[in-house]
Order: sequence, then structure tokens, then C-alpha cells
Amino acid sequence: MWTQLLLLLALAPFHWGYARAAASSLDELLAEPLRRIPYLHVLLRQGRQLQEDARNSDAMWFMQLTDVPHILHSYDERRPLELDSRLAELDKRASLVLVVSLAQLVASSGAVSSADRAGVYFYIVADVPDSLSREQQLQLEQSSRRLWTQHRVFNRYILVAGDVWIYDPFAGEWDGNVMGYDEDFGRLIPYAGGEPLSTQLFHDMRGYPLRVQIFKSVYSRPQLDPETGLLRSITGVDWEVALVIAEALNFTMLLQQPDKNYFGERSANGSYNGAIGSILNDGLDVCLTGFFVKDYLVQEYMDFTVAVYDDQLCIYAPKASRIPQSILPIFAVGYDIWLGFILMAFVCAFIWLLLRILNLRLHIISAQSRRLWQQALGILVDTWVVWVRVNLSHLPESYAERMFIGSLCLVSVIFGAIFESSLSTVYIHPLHYKDILTLQDLDDSGLKVVYKYTSMADDLFFSETSPLYASLNKKLWWNRDLNADVTKEVATVGGKASVSRYSSLMMESVNFLLMRRIWIVPECPKYYTISYVLPRDAPWEEAINAQLLRMLNAGLIPKWIQDQKYRVTVTTRKALNEQAEATEVRVLTIGDLQLAFYVVIVGTLLASIAFLAEHVFFRRRVRQATKKL
Ligand SMILES: *[C@@H]1O[C@H](CO)[C@@H](O)[C@H](O)[C@H]1NC(C)=O
Ligand SMILES: *[C@@H]1O[C@H](CO)[C@@H](O)[C@H](O)[C@H]1NC(C)=O
Repeated sequence: MWTQLLLLLALAPFHWGYARAAASSLDELLAEPLRRIPYLHVLLRQGRQLQEDARNSDAMWFMQLTDVPHILHSYDERRPLELDSRLAELDKRASLVLVVSLAQLVASSGAVSSADRAGVYFYIVADVPDSLSREQQLQLEQSSRRLWTQHRVFNRYILVAGDVWIYDPFAGEWDGNVMGYDEDFGRLIPYAGGEPLSTQLFHDMRGYPLRVQIFKSVYSRPQLDPETGLLRSITGVDWEVALVIAEALNFTMLLQQPDKNYFGERSANGSYNGAIGSILNDGLDVCLTGFFVKDYLVQEYMDFTVAVYDDQLCIYAPKASRIPQSILPIFAVGYDIWLGFILMAFVCAFIWLLLRILNLRLHIISAQSRRLWQQALGILVDTWVVWVRVNLSHLPESYAERMFIGSLCLVSVIFGAIFESSLSTVYIHPLHYKDILTLQDLDDSGLKVVYKYTSMADDLFFSETSPLYASLNKKLWWNRDLNADVTKEVATVGGKASVSRYSSLMMESVNFLLMRRIWIVPECPKYYTISYVLPRDAPWEEAINAQLLRMLNAGLIPKWIQDQKYRVTVTTRKALNEQAEATEVRVLTIGDLQLAFYVVIVGTLLASIAFLAEHVFFRRRVRQATKKL
């Protein structure tokens, strides 16, 4: 600090008193605006004026009395900054201090014509010794207004003889006529310190018209007039957000007609349509429909607000078909239970046989007339008889075997109970074949994946990441008709899968989900945060972000999302309940008995075959017997 002061003393002995007076007021006025600036470029006019500019008290204040580091340049004030070769490395987003003449500033020509609005500009008017006259003020106001209307440049502080002037684009009287807005609006006013312009000016935009677009998406529902096709009203979370921002910043929403191209697609020549196209062509001030935060290749022209919500991209496919009634009982329990049931019967028969052999060997029971293999066959049949809970007509002699049969009965009761309860469940809640659970299953199924918006699909399956993604990427198929109802096609016609936002499915297609027409693959390939978009470096960006953060802090946006979900749930439940009432009590019909009849038919066939075999066998035996006689 002391070395700086000494330097100042040595440099400007004659200006000392004046510099101190100016400095103290600048200290106060510009403290806040400078706080957020990491460094400054100080531009002094080249040639003859360089010495003079360097001794300018305001320029000296920036160079010596602030804590902000600076880089010193000389420049030609008659030449636009972009064209000045000495300033080639100047960052477009940097903040500048320029010493200029009033004539240049009023004419907005040369170095002052810059349309960059990312940085903060401090103009030091060197050739006006006293305060601005009324006439000079009006001239400056005119030129500032021109910069605002043409390029939305506003972040400028004009330092004249110790005063700081700013252009407030929202001050003044407005008669409410949108067309006449720019002519009579905006005033050059003295800056009273406090917050930097990017927040201060936007506390009250006094009804300034902003072109806002909200098109149809998950959380925004514009209603169009069926006759004229014009926007009539909007509902949804995005609309609630829009209302709150408009009220907080006090701007007038000029609602644009929803773009029929929605988000916008890039065409071969690099131009865009849709909302992105409007932003690129300066047709839109803010778009309050959520965009995925990702690279749309337009980062030079478009900015995202803070993230407002998030969502997943999920694949949905037709629900697997129902298992037909005729074979339903077979699928009532899992294959492991079937396997256990059948294998256990053989194992138990084997144990029973071991008991029998042991009994015979130890002569606990007397050897029966039948051979061992006949006894074994009898045991197998008896085991199955117990297994399917039929009574045994005669019990074995040995008590050990009887005990064993008792335990078999209990096992068969348990199996039977499991089977019967599963059977009644599947008759009431129909069973389906296995659904697509993973992306690998999806790939194996061979379904093509239809998408509507290119922005959804361009990095959905990044081919480089894995062979699976490369294969899935080949199955993507673009449906160019933005009005097509792909979900309905998938649900009714089937034969393809599609990609959509998870909440979109939960909001708009919940009836298909509840009616089990579509199935969401649980493995979702992408997760995105979602933001609104506005033109790059839009003046109101910071103010809108601040309002969005306040709403998020208060939990308002999640609340509105919950409300909307709740309303959707209530309406779909109501609609489905009417349909469902008829089917609520499932009455079993003859159709459910199909398998029983098939079994009877098969049994009859087997019995007939056995009868024929026996008949032939018996005839031959009789013939042999008569021959012997
Ligand atoms: C909003 O702007 C209108 C129009 O200029 C003005 O009359 C009104 O007082 C402003 N409202 C607030 C809350 O500042
Ligand atoms: C680019 O192509 C679109 C349609 O594909 C067309 O409307 C537009 O005029 C073209 N723009 C240029 C600059 O050629």
C-alpha cells in the first residue's frame, strides 16, 4: 500500500489533491461492481494522449488504488477492438477500462461499438472537465439506448469528472405499447453505488417485454385454440415458474407461439429450427421449457440457466405377452419348485426301497411272493400316489415304512398348498412371459428403437463405449413426424421399442403402464439435468438464475412437480377405475379349466392305447394256451 502511494506521489504530484477526492467517491461507488471482477484490462489511447491518459485521475484510481490486478494496453479509439492487432489476445469475456473521448462514446463508433456483453465496461471520459451538460446527457442516453436495443449491451459505467453514469434500460414512462417500447424507454442516470448492474437493474424491469417461449413438454402443456391454432393458455410446472419469475422481475411476458419443431434440429447446412433456431436468430429472450444440459453445438449463442430438475432417458418396449390360459397352471410355480417336486418323489421312493430291502434282509418282514423289482415298481407307484395326495389302499407291514409314509404325506401337503395358492394367484393376476430387463436383453430381442428428437438419440448409445452400445446404436431409428404418437404405436401395434423421458412416461403414458401395454426397461441408459435456455450472456441471465435458485431453495419446483404428478395419478386412477370395476372380482370361467380337459383327453388317449396293447397281449396268451391244449 505504501509503495503504491509513494509511486503515485512521484507520478502525479500536481493531481494529488484531486485524485484523492475522486478516489474516495469511486472507492464507495465502484466497490461492489469491482468485487466480482478478477482482473481488468486498462486501455489508454495511443500516441500523444498516452501520457495525458496515464495521468487521468480516474485511470490512476483503477491502476493504483484498487485491489484488482490490471493489464495495461494502448489502443486506437477509432478502431473496433476486435480489429486491433495489439489487442488480439484480449479475452472476449474480460472486463475493460477504456479512456475515451465523449465524441467516440456518443457516436458508439470505433472501440465503443463492441457488441460483447459478457464483460463489464468502465468508460473514462477524459475530455469533459466538468459534469455533463443536459444536452450531453441526452446524446449519451441516445447512444446507450441504441446499443441496448441492437445488442442488449448494458453493463457499462461511464465515469465523467468524478460522477458515474449508467444506462437503466427500464427507467422512464411506458404507455404499455410493446411496439413503441424501445423508442421512449431507458434513461441515463447517476449510479448511486450498491449492487452491480447485472443484479441492480433487474430488481424491477418495470414491465419490459421479454419474448418467452414455452412449448409442449413433460412439465408444460400449452393449449391451442382449435380454430385459429393460436396459443390460448398454458399449464404445468414451467408455466408456474414463468409466472413467478415474471412477477419477481416485473417483466411482461410476450408469449411466443409454441414452436412446431419443439427443441430444434440441426440441418445439414448447420442452421437450426425450433427453439434453438429462434435463440440463434435473436427471436427469443428466454425459453422456459426444460432442455437437457448437453452439447447442442451452439455454445457460442445459447446458455443454460441453473439446473431446475433432472430426468432419465429410458427405453420402453411392448409388455411381454400373457401366458395363455391353457398352460397357465404349469407356469404357476417356478421351474425350481417343479424340479424339486418331481426329483423328491424319486428320492423318497428310493429311500422307501432301501427300507424295504433292509427289512427283508433282517427278516423283519417275511419275503413276499413278488420279486424285488416288482416290489420296487410298487413302491414307486405308491410314492407317487402319496405324492399327489391320494389314499393308499393298503399299508406295508413294517412300522418303519408306515412312519416314512406319514412324513411323505406331510411333504405332499406342503407342496400341494404352495401349488394351489400360486394357482389361485395366477388366475387372478395374469402372468406374463419374461420382460426385457437389461439393455443386453433389448439387444437380443432385435427390436428397433424409435426416437423423435435427435437431441435424445445423438449420444444415447455412444458407439465407442462398448460393443453392446455399438450394436444398439445401429438399431436406433428416427421418426421424423414430430406429431406421431410413438407410445401408442408401441402399446397397440408393438414390434418396436422407443426412448423417452422417464417422467414423460409416468405423466403421459401412465395408462399404458397400468394397463400393462408397455414396459419400461429398468436399465436406463442416460441421466440428465434439465435447464431452461436463453441467448448467451443475456442481460437477465443472472437475475433469472437468482430467482430460479430462490424457488429451488424454497422447494417450490419439486412441489409443483409433485402436484402435477398427483393430478395425473388422480385422473388416470379415476379413468382406470371405471374400466377396472368390472374386472375387479375375477370370476373363473370354463376357459380357466382348459388344462384339466387337455389332461383328461391325453389320459383317455393313453388309456385307449393301453387297452389296445392289453387286448392284443391277452388274445395272444389265450391263443398260445389253446395251442398247448
Ligand atoms: C412493475 O411495473 C409496472 C409498470 O411499470 C409498475 O407500475 C409497477 O409499480 C411495478 N411493480 C413493482 C412491484 O415494482
Ligand atoms: C439451411 O437449410 C434449411 C432447411 O434444410 C433452410 O431452411 C435454410 O434456409 C438453409 N440455410 C442456409 C443458410 O442455407
